[in-house]
Amino acid sequence: MKYTLVTGGAGFIGSHLVKRLLEDGEKVVILDNLSMGKLSNIPLENKNVIFVNGDVSDRKTVNELFGKYNFDKIFHLAAVASVAASIKDPEKTHQTNFNGTIYLLEEAKKQKDLRRFVFASSAAVYGNSLELPKKENSEISPLTPYAIDKYASERYVLTYNSLYKLPTSAVRFFNVYGSGQNPNSPYSGVISILTDRLKANKMGNYNPFILYGDGKQTRDFIFVDDVISALLLVSESNESLGRVFNVGTGKQISLNEMISIYEEISGVNLPIINHKFRDGDIRESYADISLLNNIGFKPKYKLNEGLLNYWNDEI
Ligand code: NAD
Ligand code: UD1
Repeated sequence: MKYTLVTGGAGFIGSHLVKRLLEDGEKVVILDNLSMGKLSNIPLENKNVIFVNGDVSDRKTVNELFGKYNFDKIFHLAAVASVAASIKDPEKTHQTNFNGTIYLLEEAKKQKDLRRFVFASSAAVYGNSLELPKKENSEISPLTPYAIDKYASERYVLTYNSLYKLPTSAVRFFNVYGSGQNPNSPYSGVISILTDRLKANKMGNYNPFILYGDGKQTRDFIFVDDVISALLLVSESNESLGRVFNVGTGKQISLNEMISIYEEISGVNLPIINHKFRDGDIRESYADISLLNNIGFKPKYKLNEGLLNYWNDEI
């Protein structure tokens, strides 16, 4: 029997992917150590889901997984997903974000009939390189352990295609948002933290948002449903073999502007406390998505539409 493996499938993006794969009738194996992911994110009652509580940076776990299941596709999303967390603990980040990738690649290499291995890389690899929007061939300038490991992993993933003919592709996600993103860590994605604070204040509980820096830093925020469509497209396209693609909307917005839009949607005037910029924080970031457009991708959600969807899911 053939399965699709989703590492990090109990996490934010992974769980959305799992749901879409199940809707498409696939059988899915999830490998996740629940460090950030949650069991409640996964439809465990669905007979086509197998959940493995395990660590991708544990060689034995990965060996056993491939010993037990035969994979048609692999989506490798498990990672320490926070830039700030990687600065706090580079060693743990490296074990998961880099070692975990190599272990999966080595096992995937032994499996002769794999159709695709897709790796979740990040826009963080561009750092503060000057070119905007960021193109896939823009200067790479990783500023943090997170970004270094993402870039190194991405190169390994693509080199396994050129050296060993493993059918691999990589995607560089820009800033993804939507329901299911865990807001409970200071290192969680900014829109999940904002949603949490807006909800608290809506209910009359004073709960301020900490803004790092002047709020003029920009990001390309993409709604998770669009990201899943991009992932599936890349996993099916012949043109994407051995290549890396930006996944964003192609639009940038400052944190200040994004917060204003979200305040309007939620009807909450958010209390904000200002802190200094975070170390390793990127100032300006948005994607050139021509390559992804060329294989048929067009984002469906504008920021205000995605935020409205997210807000309605949460309240
Ligand atoms: P997330 O933290 O919600 O999901 C990551 C999942 O991996 C979690 O469920 C976590 O429990 C699991 N995990 C962590 N370490 C593990 C380990 N050692 N073994 C097994 N499982 C482990 O984050 P996300 O936002 O869903 O990110 C998914 C992927 O996309 C990550 O690789 C992240 O780096 C990448 N990415 C995310 C964004 C974004 O904006 N969210 C942007 C660029 C890239
Ligand atoms: C995010 C992703 C990372 C991904 C990268 C790609 C998360 C946790 N991080 O990193 O996986 O590789 O996009 O571009 O999903 N901020 C605040 N207050 C807060 C939290 C954040 O002001 O409480 C600011 C940050 O300093 C930063 C911006 O919001 O300037 C975005 O932060 P964050 O959501 O952590 O994302 P990135 O660091 O861009």
